[in-house]
Amino acid sequence: MEKLDIVKETRDAYAYLKRRSSKLVHFSFQSKGESIPVYLNSELYNWTIENLVKNGIDAMKGKGHVSIEIIPVGKNVQILVSDTGSGIPRRDYNNIFNPGVTSKKRGWGLGLSLVKRIVEEYHKGKIKVLSSSKEGTIMQITLKVAE
Ligand SMILES: Nc1ncnc2c1ncn2[C@@H]1O[C@H](COP(=O)(O)OP(=O)(O)O)[C@@H](O)[C@H]1O
Ligand SMILES: [Mg+2]
Repeated sequence: MEKLDIVKETRDAYAYLKRRSSKLVHFSFQSKGESIPVYLNSELYNWTIENLVKNGIDAMKGKGHVSIEIIPVGKNVQILVSDTGSGIPRRDYNNIFNPGVTSKKRGWGLGLSLVKRIVEEYHKGKIKVLSSSKEGTIMQITLKVAE
């Protein structure tokens, strides 16, 4: 774990994913803070963002909008990853974090279970489905800002 700027880490992960994705996926990035220190494992955090973005792209069948937003809230910072995919039924909001849960033909259903462990056990943060509908999904990570 290292004290790193979550805005830079997230923007770098975002730029990398944008560069490697289809032109049919539109990306946007927004941060309400300029530089926000958080204790992070950079590799695990990057992997987490990549997994959330890939799930979003899967849910929109390769075409739509992915957006990442960083919002400082008191002693915490929220990272929102939104997509314009098909959404998650409300009864599955918690379920999708369990290993082996997948709706994909070739899915393993392991991504979100590892993402949850990385965020909650490793970084002592929180992750949840903030909202979801037929218009898309917003995943929310909450981490503590470093002193
Ligand atoms: N952004 C999303 N939009 C719609 N469904 C999602 C999204 N993220 C996750 N899911 C659902 O949660 C399931 C589990 O995701 P994950 O653990 O990453 O496994 P996998 O991607 O291998 O299916 C997915 O199969 C999908 O049904
Ligand atoms: Mg996945």
